Amino acid sequence: MNTAYETRKTLDLILREIDLSGVPARRMSAFRKRIDLYFPDLFAHMMELYGTRYDAYVHMRTLMQGLARHQATPAMRRVKSTTEPWFEGREAVGMAVYVDLFAGDLKGLIDRIPYLEDLGVTYLHLMPLYLAPEANSDGGYAVSDYRTVNPALGTNKDLKALSRALHARGIRLVLDFVFNHTSDEHRWVRAALDGDPRYQQFYFLCDPDDADAYNSTVREIFPQVRRGSFTWNETLGKHVWTTFNSFQWDLNYANPDVFVSVVDEMLHLVSMGADVLRLDALAFVWKEMGTVCENLPKAHTVIQAFNLCLKLAAPEVVFKSEAIVHPDEVNRYIRRDECELSYNPLMMALMWESLATRRTELLNASMERSFAIPEGTAWVNYIRCHDDIGWMWDDAISARLGIDGYGHRQFLNRFYTGRFEGSFASGVPFQENPTNGDCRVCGTLASLAGVEQAQQTGNALAMEHALRRIDLLNAVVFATPGIPLLYQGDEIGVLNDDAYLTDPSKREDSRWVHRKALTDADLTTAQAPGTPQAHIHSEIRRMIAIRKANAVFGSSSFDLIRLASPHTFAFLRETDAARLLVVANFSEHTLSLEESVADLLGSAKVMDLLAPETAIGTGPLRLDAYGVHWFHTIRG
Ligand code: GLC
Ligand code: GLC
Repeated sequence: MNTAYETRKTLDLILREIDLSGVPARRMSAFRKRIDLYFPDLFAHMMELYGTRYDAYVHMRTLMQGLARHQATPAMRRVKSTTEPWFEGREAVGMAVYVDLFAGDLKGLIDRIPYLEDLGVTYLHLMPLYLAPEANSDGGYAVSDYRTVNPALGTNKDLKALSRALHARGIRLVLDFVFNHTSDEHRWVRAALDGDPRYQQFYFLCDPDDADAYNSTVREIFPQVRRGSFTWNETLGKHVWTTFNSFQWDLNYANPDVFVSVVDEMLHLVSMGADVLRLDALAFVWKEMGTVCENLPKAHTVIQAFNLCLKLAAPEVVFKSEAIVHPDEVNRYIRRDECELSYNPLMMALMWESLATRRTELLNASMERSFAIPEGTAWVNYIRCHDDIGWMWDDAISARLGIDGYGHRQFLNRFYTGRFEGSFASGVPFQENPTNGDCRVCGTLASLAGVEQAQQTGNALAMEHALRRIDLLNAVVFATPGIPLLYQGDEIGVLNDDAYLTDPSKREDSRWVHRKALTDADLTTAQAPGTPQAHIHSEIRRMIAIRKANAVFGSSSFDLIRLASPHTFAFLRETDAARLLVVANFSEHTLSLEESVADLLGSAKVMDLLAPETAIGTGPLRLDAYGVHWFHTIRG
């Protein structure tokens, strides 16, 4: 246990022993204040993790030295915000892109800034752009050096120039903090292979018995890559923990040397201009024999300790959680002192579930339980991302609705991969597990929503429905509290692309079906009136503009409204001056509801922000096929 006295004594000793001469005078007093504020918690967290190690103090001192050193790096101009915190504002609109697929390279990306501005994007996630193995790098998530930009994309200087250009246009930069693993070409792995005992302790190297024991309780993430979580390494004569691909070696956070070294890498990303760090695969960072090795209490301690380092060294930066796990576990990462932002994978998956079943009970019941998160944190709401769709929800909730979780997941996988008669979707399966039948789904928004199939069959009604599904999903995401996040290409209805099948380094990873290079031709089609692409693009632009123009979208209030119909998803948001009612019909049937808009909003003076021309009746609400409305009160 640390008493306040011990903490103080340790801090005094550290401050005497580390070199603070690099901290610029004008930054010293703020830095000292933050030390006083956050050191006690950081120390407590480090002691919880590493207190039993005889060298714990040395690591604590090295850590503080690193945080102090960071104060000497030149500060970047950041984006100013009128909302505090910025991510709760209606201005926050995100997009995730691969640098090469979206713009060729970092220089090309500067030229695409006007395109992002035109859409209204103010938050740009660049998929990992660091040095990585040449053949297969898991789309950049196998990092060989956090401090070097992948030469195919540019240089560190280009990255800095890009962050400056983005900041100047009011766009925040999101970079990946891939801290669960490194690539097997990282200098730490190379040193380990060369026999350096320090770096051998950076990774999880096991004997066969231990590997078997761990495997018996751990979920397989990429079962088509390899069974179990380990990869045999001939040089070391050990099994190496590799949760994902065999070339992605898991770091061992039970070793304080790893934590302290990774903090340095993290601060480098901050010095390149990152405003948000996306904590990749954070659920996996702490392992204990006999457990599932996901979401363990100490994983939270590790992340909170990283967050404290950030608050001490670079308080302007926030964390975003990438936990694609059970909803209750997802929410545990979302705290002001852990991850201020998080993907909302539950809402994402259940919107697709609702479109498949035309019913919204599971979506409603799940949002009722899981949507609320602490003040000062926000969801990142999305429909598609660069990864697969996994059917994560709470089986206790589905069981209460009479839905068998296992069977229902099987149905959804069939529905979205063309193995269910009558389905509108064109998707492909990802990582089918031959042992338990688990599977996930890949595909672009347009292909999964039915555009691809409608185009193939030339069925005009099918096309209309497909476009309505897309408008509906976007309208829900852009009206939900949090940051709406677009995935590159989905804003112009890009379809699935099979080209990856001819590339040996991608063939086995069907996520590449929805990772297509954006061509100038794609962008031109999106401008051609009458095309599905142009429809999708102009609707998204319009929704973003409406969102930014109406204060109610910046409110944190969110009340689900359970209408009498099992096909609707509806919620209410309000400020002191206005109320917004969002209603979506997840079926292709016209619905006559019992409720009227006036009753639901408590006012008869209403307009639909999405259809301002249409008069709103006072009688019971009628919803068209996949109809979606943003009913907003009018003053006066
Ligand atoms: C995250 C990434 C995914 C990657 C995995 C391993 O889930 O989003 O693309 O494969 O982590 O880094
Ligand atoms: C993530 C998730 C998994 C996801 C994968 C990338 O960390 O846990 O569900 O599909 O990595 O494919």
